[in-house]
Amino acid sequence: MHYPWWYVPFLTSPLLIAVVSVLHVIVSHYAVGGGLFLAVETRYAYRTRNRDYLAYLKEHAWFFILVTVVYGAITGVGIWWTIGLASPLATETLIHTFVFGWGMEYVFFVLEIASAFIFYYYWGRLDPRTHQTIGWIYAISAWISLVLITGITAFMLNPGAWPQNHDFWVGFLNPQFVPQVLARTGGSFLLASLYVYLHATFKVKEPALRNLIEARSARPALAGAILVTVGGLGWYVFLPESAKAALVAASALNVLMVLIFAVTAVVFVMLYLGPYRNPGWLSPGFAILFFTLGVAAISTGEFVREAVRKPYIVYNVVMGNQVLPQEVPNLRQNGYLEGGTWTKALVAAQYPQVMNAGAIDQARLLALPEADQIKLGAVLFQYHCNDCHSATEGFSAVGQMMRGWTPEMIQALVEQPEKVNFFMPPWAGTPQEAQLLTKYLLSIRPPHPAGMYYGDQK
Ligand code: HEC
Repeated sequence: MHYPWWYVPFLTSPLLIAVVSVLHVIVSHYAVGGGLFLAVETRYAYRTRNRDYLAYLKEHAWFFILVTVVYGAITGVGIWWTIGLASPLATETLIHTFVFGWGMEYVFFVLEIASAFIFYYYWGRLDPRTHQTIGWIYAISAWISLVLITGITAFMLNPGAWPQNHDFWVGFLNPQFVPQVLARTGGSFLLASLYVYLHATFKVKEPALRNLIEARSARPALAGAILVTVGGLGWYVFLPESAKAALVAASALNVLMVLIFAVTAVVFVMLYLGPYRNPGWLSPGFAILFFTLGVAAISTGEFVREAVRKPYIVYNVVMGNQVLPQEVPNLRQNGYLEGGTWTKALVAAQYPQVMNAGAIDQARLLALPEADQIKLGAVLFQYHCNDCHSATEGFSAVGQMMRGWTPEMIQALVEQPEKVNFFMPPWAGTPQEAQLLTKYLLSIRPPHPAGMYYGDQK
């Protein structure tokens, strides 16, 4: 409403965010856990004077930098681009609230990159003690950047008392902060070991060294799986009311939740029986399977974490359709098209006949030719519904869900979406605008698919 809308065909913008952010988190967690792995293990290799292990760690550091700094940085910026376009109002709220949080994040990010490069490119040229210190500077700053970004992202799911006082620390140390830091730290340990297994099974041929690598990384992975579970339970306990309700009510989310727990349990048992008890077992194929399961668990977890945030995108602060809850009464009174900077400009430019003393005249909207009413209904759809639904085909397509609905049913849903399904934000427009949207929806709704028996209601 405050910004131009961003149309992503088929996928819809929130699903695009889900794709980009999953591509990012499967590497960003490795950026944290892998840093800790390198710091701890180079220390161990220096201490035990294990030249072979040290040589392997150098090779791993190269792989690590390539994956985290190059791919991780590109996908990280990708998230910014996507959320800024898809959810501009929510992004604006986060920036206003956490500008210093992000300032700190960038400081640690620069520290990370500098220390990662020094750690790798000065390998063998620094004395062991300094080299280890650089490794630890990387590991600690990477973990701090995880903590900082978690405070900000967890805020969206449950901002706690922030809406009452707008205090930076109240927002940052929100009820979801500790559970999510625990889960993400655990996820970092777990994922880092899976990356190590993937890399080492392909790169290391010597059995003794391979067994050492597998055994050393098994413990943090097991500890990581436990932390993920503990953090996950905390996440559930501190979910806001609507998110808990969404989790229980949506069948897709039920299935995904079971899947996450099942896959995490399988990974745990495989880790225990494989690398922990019998290091020799691990082959490249086993490592690929492991890695795939780990990535599946983490991706599903991220997806569910995002999916339950309805009808808000920032709970109690910004609704899923980029409207502030306190704006709703005014929009219902004076109109959604009138309230939006871009929608009003569009109406004034294309339909000057509905303007009256600089404002949109609601009654004149319904005097427009039918085709133009449908066009304006489509604009309302893009703003009011497209943040969660595609129109005729693609993700959660409204046309498909409304197959065979009568005009009365459609109008009832438009006027009170939150009554039909609590996932949806309330209608934020006038009754006339509700009619425009209804006409548009009616124009895209296919007939009843079992028309032979039910009759075509179109
Ligand atoms: C914040 C996200 C969100 C917004 C915005 C939203 N919806 Fe929904 N809507 C949902 C969810 C979630 C469901 C549950 C079905 C699903 O899983 O896709 C749903 C369900 C529906 C259904 C199926 C209802 C049923 O019981 O069969 C229709 C039709 C629908 N929405 C239309 C709309 C229209 C029209 C708008 C715009 C006025 C809209 N939605 C806005 C999230 C949203």
